[in-house]
Amino acid sequence: MSHEFSTSSLLDLARRFPPDFVWGVATSAFQIEGAAQEDGKGESIWDRFCRQPGAIADGSNGDVACDHVHRLEEDLDLIAALGVSAYRFSVSWPRVQPLGSGAWNPKGLAFYDRLVDGLIQRGIKPTMTLNHWDLPQALQDQGGWANRDTVAHFVEYALGMHRWLGNRVAAITTHNEPWVIAVLGHEQGIFAPGLKSRATAMQVTHHLLLSHGLALQALRAEGCRADLGIVLNLSHTYPATDTPEDRAQAVLDDGCLLRWYVDPLLRGSYPEDIWAHLGADVPQVQAGDMAAIATPLDFLGINNYSRHMASADKSFDVKKSGLPLTEMGWEIYPQGLSDLLLRLHKDYVLPPTFITENGGAFADEMRQGEIHDVDRQRYIAEHIAAVAAALQQGVPMAGYMVWSLLDNFEWASGYAKRFGIVHVDYSSQKRTPKLSAHWYRAFLSQWRALQT
Ligand code: FCB
Repeated sequence: MSHEFSTSSLLDLARRFPPDFVWGVATSAFQIEGAAQEDGKGESIWDRFCRQPGAIADGSNGDVACDHVHRLEEDLDLIAALGVSAYRFSVSWPRVQPLGSGAWNPKGLAFYDRLVDGLIQRGIKPTMTLNHWDLPQALQDQGGWANRDTVAHFVEYALGMHRWLGNRVAAITTHNEPWVIAVLGHEQGIFAPGLKSRATAMQVTHHLLLSHGLALQALRAEGCRADLGIVLNLSHTYPATDTPEDRAQAVLDDGCLLRWYVDPLLRGSYPEDIWAHLGADVPQVQAGDMAAIATPLDFLGINNYSRHMASADKSFDVKKSGLPLTEMGWEIYPQGLSDLLLRLHKDYVLPPTFITENGGAFADEMRQGEIHDVDRQRYIAEHIAAVAAALQQGVPMAGYMVWSLLDNFEWASGYAKRFGIVHVDYSSQKRTPKLSAHWYRAFLSQWRALQT
């Protein structure tokens, strides 16, 4: 396969980004690591959830995943070959602290030591997420995120990781996507821990946000020099039609999906309309909680994949919208990303903002040992252009990271949905960079050439 991309089009895109822009690629622990029962790792809620019949589409689990724990050096070389400046990974809390409180696991800590040092040796900034969903099962047994005690355990965990890795990580993210943990995990029950109560979900949201704010305060009090922030899954909401019903639905959906998270973090209060909408399901909030949640952020991370269409009678059907869909059934609409960023910039005072995940699942086919994933390559290029459009209109964009480095365990969808720019053959664990990886490397090399 020829990997020659038009230099002028790569340069046209690269020129739109400043020299200090951070380019990266992202993964998460449970989705790639494997080694689920090795070296003293404790059980996580995702280990447990995968064993519930019917929970995972293909009946799979994370026991082996991409076997990343045993293939660390090879994977670090793959990251380095892309020419990215940052790598976003997450720590498996039960790998380093098997019960979520008390004793630490030296072998688990040693793995992240090797990961972080390996990145630094290759000139790549480690950016660490503390909670990408795999809560220790021992804490779930005591109520998990619905129990306020988990807040204090999380702060201890954050401090422990900081003491262990010192100031070797460039950035620390407390939580990945509180909405997903709360709503998919505790209200819809389709993600771990598989509960179905809106009241629980709202209390979980509050404890996640509170533990985030308290962790930031504790880390700063310890002299942490890493940039500190949180990652939200956000999409721009559009009314499906121009009727008053759909327009009202759009305000409500945007409130539940975006303002319920961004308002407390950046304004120190929950939005009043959503508080009223929740009725008896509102969370218990104690004095001082809101100020803690609004502890200033060094950065905001946004994971974005698609737009959100609000339809009062639920008649909106992505299959009839006319937009192309990814294998997840998500509409491809890059304009939605610039609309989202411009709206946030208009309504809030944003800290430096990163796209911490963006990418697509496509039906990749291996042909003569190569994967010509033009759909993914185009998806990524168009979304990078959408970030450039926002930057040019003054949004403080600081970086962009592709989801994901590797094909991996896509939660309830199992291994069938592939998001990697590097293909993984799960029978041999062979890694093969796809066309999209070659394109990203070529783009980054043009961008870097502009800086010299
Ligand atoms: C996000 C998750 C990430 C990945 C992508 C596709 O919600 O943060 O782990 O599964 O979706």
